[in-house]
Amino acid sequence: MPALGYHRLTALYDRVVAVTMREATWRAEFVAIVAPGAGERILDMGCGTGTLVVALAQVEPCAQITGIDPDDAMLAVARQRATAAGVTIELVSGLAQAAALTGALAGRRFDTIVSSLVFHHLDEETKRAVLETMHGLLERRHGRVIILDWGAMPRILTRLRFLPVRLLDGFDNTRANVEGRMPQLLAEAGFRVVATPWTFETAFGPLATWVAEANDTGAASDKSGEV
Ligand SMILES: C[S@@+](CC[C@H](N)C(=O)[O-])C[C@H]1O[C@@H](n2cnc3c(N)ncnc32)[C@H](O)[C@@H]1O
Repeated sequence: MPALGYHRLTALYDRVVAVTMREATWRAEFVAIVAPGAGERILDMGCGTGTLVVALAQVEPCAQITGIDPDDAMLAVARQRATAAGVTIELVSGLAQAAALTGALAGRRFDTIVSSLVFHHLDEETKRAVLETMHGLLERRHGRVIILDWGAMPRILTRLRFLPVRLLDGFDNTRANVEGRMPQLLAEAGFRVVATPWTFETAFGPLATWVAEANDTGAASDKSGEV
C-alpha cells in the first residue's frame, strides 16, 4: 500500500508528515533513542523515502545501514536523499518477508532493526508476518528492535483526532495501535518489550516507541531505554 494511500500522492509524503506531525522534533528524538554505533548493522524495515536511514548514517557514518521498502518511488527519493547527504547506505527493493526468505536479506542478521510509521499500514496478519521476519533477522546475543508508530488511544477525543489517519490507512490496519496492542503483538512474535522510552503528542494522536529484544537472547541491550 502506498504511504499516503495512492501512488500519485507519494511525492507529497515527506511534506505532509513534516507539516502535520512536527516530524523534525520526533525524528531527531527517535535517532537519539537508536543511537547508532560504529560498525552496527542496522536495518530500517519500510524505510520509505529514507529520512531515518539517512539521519542515522549522518549521526554515525561507520554504521552499516540498510533500508528495505517495496515501493520503488519511495526508494528513488531515498536514493536521492542519501546522495545529497553524501552518505553510503544500502537500499533494498522488496517486501521484508520475501527478502528475508530468498532475497537480499536471506541469511543475514542485524544488530538493530528499526521501523517507523509502518505497522499502522499493515493488516493484523501482515503485522505478525513482518514481526516474525524481524525476529528471524535479529542478532540473538544483543539484538534490539525499535519500533515507532501510533500509540494507544483509550480516550474518545484522541480517537476522534486520529480519525483522518484511520480513514486514510484503514480501520482494521490501525486497530492494534488504537487499542494499544503493539506490545502484545511483539510478545506473540517472540519479543520481550524492554522499554517504552517515549511518546510524542501530534495533532492526530500520540506516537510511541517500543524497544524489544528476542525472548531467546537473555542479554538486554546496553542502550535500551536511553533517550
Ligand atoms: C508510511 S511509510 C513510512 C516510511 C518511513 N519509515 C517513514 O518513517 O517515513 C510506510 C512504508 O512501509 C513500507 N512497507 C509496507 N509494508 C512493508 C513490508 N512488508 N516490508 C517492507 N516495507 C514495507 C511501504 O512501502 C511504505 O514506504
